[in-house]
Amino acid sequence: MNLTKSLYKKFGLGLAVVMGSAMMLGACGDNTATPVPAATTAAATTAAVATTASGATGAKADLSAAKGCKNVAILLPETDSSFRWEALDRPLLQQEIAAAIPGATIQYSNASNNADTQQNQAEAALTKGACILVVGAKDGDKASAIVQKAKAAKVPVIAYDRLIQDNDLAYYVSFDNVKVGELQGQWLADQYKAGNYGLKKGAKLAMINGGQTDNNALLFRQGALNKLKPLVDSGDLTLVYDQYTPDWDNAKAQTLMEGVLTAQKNDLQIAYVANDGMANTVIAALRAQKLNGKVPVTGQDASDDGIKNIITGDQGMTVYKAIPLEAKATGQLVAALAAGTDPGSIINGKTKTKGGVDVPSVLAVPVTVTKDNIVSTVFKDGFVKKENACKGLPAGTGGIC
Ligand code: BGC
Repeated sequence: MNLTKSLYKKFGLGLAVVMGSAMMLGACGDNTATPVPAATTAAATTAAVATTASGATGAKADLSAAKGCKNVAILLPETDSSFRWEALDRPLLQQEIAAAIPGATIQYSNASNNADTQQNQAEAALTKGACILVVGAKDGDKASAIVQKAKAAKVPVIAYDRLIQDNDLAYYVSFDNVKVGELQGQWLADQYKAGNYGLKKGAKLAMINGGQTDNNALLFRQGALNKLKPLVDSGDLTLVYDQYTPDWDNAKAQTLMEGVLTAQKNDLQIAYVANDGMANTVIAALRAQKLNGKVPVTGQDASDDGIKNIITGDQGMTVYKAIPLEAKATGQLVAALAAGTDPGSIINGKTKTKGGVDVPSVLAVPVTVTKDNIVSTVFKDGFVKKENACKGLPAGTGGIC
């Protein structure tokens, strides 16, 4: 089955949407280049992309090995903390790259959340003749070594979904990740302002962030705080907990939430959670204290479980990221690199590395999903099948199943 084709058919999307995103991202794309507001905590300092670096020049990557390339390596970061990498990114990337370079050898590896493993996998791929690397980095800082190894062989690296902090990066393909966090934070701020979930002044907020070695986790947190910090500063919300979760590990997220509930004697009103996998285990921790459905919980990825948790009311929202668009754009960049042409108009933004270089980027638009628009977004696009989200739920649950 042609997965992209079927998803695109279901999505009713095509290149036009990438271009549409490009237009929508005209403004957002600028965000990535604009210094973010002053960091407020130690963690936020690391979250700020290129707030301090400016004026660094950075050598332009030498892409010459890519011309005529017939051997592409895909390196993804992990298998178990989000369903997306093996279930969606892997097959979609393989398909898009096969279409971009007919007859190409495609090498695939997954780092299982280990940066050293990923480094070894990259070196092995280069040894086996890879002339373009597509890397979803386990560790955005450490993966700079991969870019430098590749550079020595004149092989360009496309940072996939997660930024690599290296000035020789060829391209970056992702979503507007500050925006992802802003959608999560905005939804929580809206719940407070509407008095939903019985939220009142002083409501206690815990933040369970993603894995700190993933640049995205920093951006999601930064975006969420863009919306929540004003409410914390005014005393409307009380931030009682704000931690990264090593490796985005779902089980660790549950342990963190259990610790928060114990420390707060179950007096917790809001749970910011960075993705659906962790939201699912955080909900288990809440359920053990009979607080599920009473405490608003955020998520991301529009997983089957995330959508199910929204339908039952245990989770309030998720962020839908149309991964087929991300893979499609990557295929287009690979095609341009192999042809030695400029990718032109699919580049819709630039992203500054810590070293101060603007990396040409394709950034797609994330979408908030709540109970109100599940049907018109993820079901309609075929991203989540109703039978999967409703599996095991009584007919009529949430007015959706
Ligand atoms: C991705 C998310 C994913 C997370 C954990 C992030 O870099 O953008 O979609 O949930 O990693 O795998």
